[in-house]
Amino acid sequence: MATVKHRKSRLRGTTASSADRYDLYLRAVQSPESEIPFFIRVYKREYDALPTVLREDFCGTFAVCCQWAKSRKDRIAIGVDIDAQPLDWGRKHNLQPLRPQQQQRVQLMQDDVRKVKGPKADVQAAQNFSFWIFKTRKELLGYFKAAYANLARKGVFVLDMMGGLETMEEDHTDTTSYKGFKYLWEQARFDPITHDCSFYIHFTFKDGSKLHRAFEYHWRFWMLPEVREVLLQAGFRRVDVYWEGTDSETEERLNSQCGVIHEISAAKRHTRFLSQVDGMAQLSVGCVAQGLHPQRI
Ligand SMILES: C[S@@+](CC[C@H](N)C(=O)[O-])C[C@H]1O[C@@H](n2cnc3c(N)ncnc32)[C@H](O)[C@@H]1O
Repeated sequence: MATVKHRKSRLRGTTASSADRYDLYLRAVQSPESEIPFFIRVYKREYDALPTVLREDFCGTFAVCCQWAKSRKDRIAIGVDIDAQPLDWGRKHNLQPLRPQQQQRVQLMQDDVRKVKGPKADVQAAQNFSFWIFKTRKELLGYFKAAYANLARKGVFVLDMMGGLETMEEDHTDTTSYKGFKYLWEQARFDPITHDCSFYIHFTFKDGSKLHRAFEYHWRFWMLPEVREVLLQAGFRRVDVYWEGTDSETEERLNSQCGVIHEISAAKRHTRFLSQVDGMAQLSVGCVAQGLHPQRI
């Protein structure tokens, strides 16, 4: 996560001056309680078994790891992030409240996600578009290959994507109200040639104070077809797309703060299913060709 650049003198004595940006981020952006059931459903559907080891890449304050360790006695979580600051915050605010046995099942690594070769994971997750940090196809392929190598023989890689025309609009800000603050997601810049893009998160408070650019992201806006292609190139057997933001009854698109959101899961190749590989791959191509009928669970 990028650093905050607010002017301390102007903020002194305001709500913003005492606000904790990681706490606000957690409340506004993340929902570990809903992510874990999703991972389990994807894994169970694929392998008819329950996953034990979760690796959370780009884990930040590793809230998902902690939720995972809490969710069952045999679950182990590995969090990887390059930045010491969110990891330290997570140790204090997310890890410490856990029971000692739960804490022991959370392992943290401060490093580049492409370098860490940890215990093999049943589920490897990269949430909130974090892999968009890799701006070239070569870098993305390198990351996906590393993820493939980190997965257990029966493994699932879960990523999320945003998409839809409105998510590419420049100078556009979505505002969501929470108890005591507002969360602003600013789409500041989108280059249609390179797909370089910049996003900022701001928080505002009732007393008029603001945490300006509490977080900033300078990414490549990857498109779904190219991400699927690179996943398959990295060796994944099948890539499924789960579509959020549509009404399950009417199939109409719902308003969501950054347009349509896609969740992707990529199942790892393993010998037991080798004979089915072609059929399954075709199935998923059929799904893409239809375009408007992504998988939902
Ligand atoms: C958008 S935040 C995601 C935080 C959290 N996973 C979430 O879902 O909200 C991106 C995180 O990726 C980390 N990061 C960026 N590049 C990385 C890399 N190459 N390896 C490991 N972590 C990286 C940043 O330090 C930051 O904490």
